[in-house]
Amino acid sequence: MDDLNALRDELLAAIESADSTAALETLRVSALGRKGTVTGLLKGLGQVDPEQRRARGQAVNALKEAASAAIDAKMAALADSALESRLAAESVDVTLPARPLPEGRLHPISQTLDEIVAIFGEMGYSVAEGPDIEDDFHNFTALNIPPEHPARQMFDTFYLPERPDGSRMVLRTHTSPVQIRAMQAISGGKANGLPLRIIAPGRTYRCDSDMTHTPMFHQVEGLIVDRTTHMGHLKGCLIEFVRAYFELPDVPVRFRPSYFPFTEPSAELDIGCDRSGGELKIGAGDDWLEILGCGMVHPNVLAACGIDPAEYQGFAFGMGIERIAMLKYGIPDLRTFFDADLRWLKHYGFVPLEVPTLFRGLTP
Ligand code: PHE
Repeated sequence: MDDLNALRDELLAAIESADSTAALETLRVSALGRKGTVTGLLKGLGQVDPEQRRARGQAVNALKEAASAAIDAKMAALADSALESRLAAESVDVTLPARPLPEGRLHPISQTLDEIVAIFGEMGYSVAEGPDIEDDFHNFTALNIPPEHPARQMFDTFYLPERPDGSRMVLRTHTSPVQIRAMQAISGGKANGLPLRIIAPGRTYRCDSDMTHTPMFHQVEGLIVDRTTHMGHLKGCLIEFVRAYFELPDVPVRFRPSYFPFTEPSAELDIGCDRSGGELKIGAGDDWLEILGCGMVHPNVLAACGIDPAEYQGFAFGMGIERIAMLKYGIPDLRTFFDADLRWLKHYGFVPLEVPTLFRGLTP
């Protein structure tokens, strides 16, 4: 039994002085592993005199338990002290500045829209909205759009599947149906809601796709209805808008006679530009660039909304947001607006929370 006591002292001393978990693991293998010393003693019990076998077996097993327990305890102690020394060495400097969060950018569509709202808001317009999915009445019929008009054709317009009554909803082809909704909301005895003065920004849809057309794009509609509103107001208001928006107080503006079923007379507004040298420069030169459609609200449209055209009149306008954003910010390809490319957004995007106002300047 002396040999066991000696081995036990030696093992426990070695375990106690092990200074790393690796050294401890080596010890464990050499004592308790398959070819370890203690394992060897257990295997050798068969050769021991049967008289002593039982006592010796108990002693070897006790040695095995003791070694194993000592190793576990030392393992835990080593892990504890490793943590202690990390805690002592490492500390958090609470005075360091926080890591900056990545800052998003405002899409040029949002920025342009904010600028438009800032300008018309200053003129007393409020923002109105309508659904992207419209019915035939609001998108076409009430707007005096004749049955044979190209906008009604399948190849120009996205239609939804037929409903039980045979009608089909459409993805609105312009924001003009919001005119109808706004007028309906104040007609029928509520004409004291006049004067009506709204702008209606939103998504619009047409079956078109190339450098300058995407199937979804944005428009802003404007509408004023009152007793005395006339063409002079329309011109003054839009000239003011164009100069404020492009931040060019003397940009040349021209109203060119045009046709829309829902306005009479109708016009398109052009701004002066220069295309010489392959670069487009707004506000100078003797070229013209069309930027919006407008006109006096057609009497049939007022009547379709329950407003008496003998007593009330107004004007309306509509423009493409992408188009005027491209012109102001020199963005060459319309399709890039919807590519969701972060590099593009970083380049053309705007700092959020720099809300455009007329008095502080529209653009940061
Ligand atoms: N809805 C017309 C378009 O999409 C624009 C417009 C609006 C013209 C209002 C006149 C008045 O082209």
